[in-house]
Amino acid sequence: MDAVKDFEGRVAFITGGASGAGLGQARVFGRAGVRVAIADVRADALAGAVDDLAREGVEAFPVVLDITDRAAYARAADEVEAHFGDPITLLFNTAGVNGFGSIETMTYDDFDWILGVNLGGVVNGLRTIVPRMIAAGRGGHVTSVASVGGFEGSRMTGPYSAAKAAVISLMESFALALPAHGIGVTVLCPASIRSNISEAHLTRAAADASGVLTDDAFVESLREVYAHGMDPEHLALHLKRAIERDELYAIPYPEVRDDLERTFGRILDAVPDTDELDLEGAEQRLRALARFRESARARADATGAVT
Ligand SMILES: NC(=O)c1ccc[n+]([C@@H]2O[C@H](COP(=O)([O-])OP(=O)(O)OC[C@H]3O[C@@H](n4cnc5c(N)ncnc54)[C@H](O)[C@@H]3O)[C@@H](O)[C@H]2O)c1
Repeated sequence: MDAVKDFEGRVAFITGGASGAGLGQARVFGRAGVRVAIADVRADALAGAVDDLAREGVEAFPVVLDITDRAAYARAADEVEAHFGDPITLLFNTAGVNGFGSIETMTYDDFDWILGVNLGGVVNGLRTIVPRMIAAGRGGHVTSVASVGGFEGSRMTGPYSAAKAAVISLMESFALALPAHGIGVTVLCPASIRSNISEAHLTRAAADASGVLTDDAFVESLREVYAHGMDPEHLALHLKRAIERDELYAIPYPEVRDDLERTFGRILDAVPDTDELDLEGAEQRLRALARFRESARARADATGAVT
């Protein structure tokens, strides 16, 4: 599979394109000649983003969309393809929300909102647009924005970390399937971005009960953290390079290496070299798995399916 290196004229669908990381992507890929559609749940922010981009010579097509709404997602994709007269071949699942609060106080509403947008919204993006990309047969690239938070648990952002872990896993799975269709896959895992995510709760429908902290002092302390995050354009340039190199993981934050080493080290430490209670067990399981793979491959060869 050839990685996407020439972006000129391709059509991109960027969720969360009105702000932060998504707006940075619209700038960077728009300047590279991509025809960008920016989708966001906030109509006012979209209008502002379109104006900002236009001043910089990037003509973006705005779509008001709540990514948790599947029917609206399909209509949005139709609208974008009709507007540009070409299929979407670059998908950026970038929209996301975060909510801070102690894991033991998070409510069903909190889980539904945070998992709904960060995981459900990405599933909807993949299910709506990937089949169109495959049918169009023009290759392309799919990016989802997860987080380094997806590699470990967090007392204060439990549902968010769980959603991001699932997105990482999903992209690992798509990366096994999409290259056969000429489509690359990247999961971008940022640590901190200069963005408006400290105000994510403002996009949320009223909740009956919530453990998410939204008092002014707390939101201000979050704002201060994100004010020092990576410039969204800078982050989008890292992403562009990862797409050009067809890299599955983009984690352009040197400061997280030690934490990741500790996390993965802890996981590997749980795997013994041998199982002294069942010395033959591992061999038997591996042989069973190899037989299963062999028969699956034979079935795929017979039916022409991709395994
Ligand atoms: N800010 C960080 O430090 C950080 C760190 C790691 C990962 N991320 C991830 O980066 C991505 C972009 O976030 P950001 O930091 O640029 O925040 P942001 O708030 O500036 O931008 C996110 C955009 O998504 C939109 N959005 C929210 N819910 C939506 C919905 N249901 N449908 C459509 N649009 C919706 C918002 O209106 C907003 O414009 C998110 O997936 C986030 O989880 C952010």
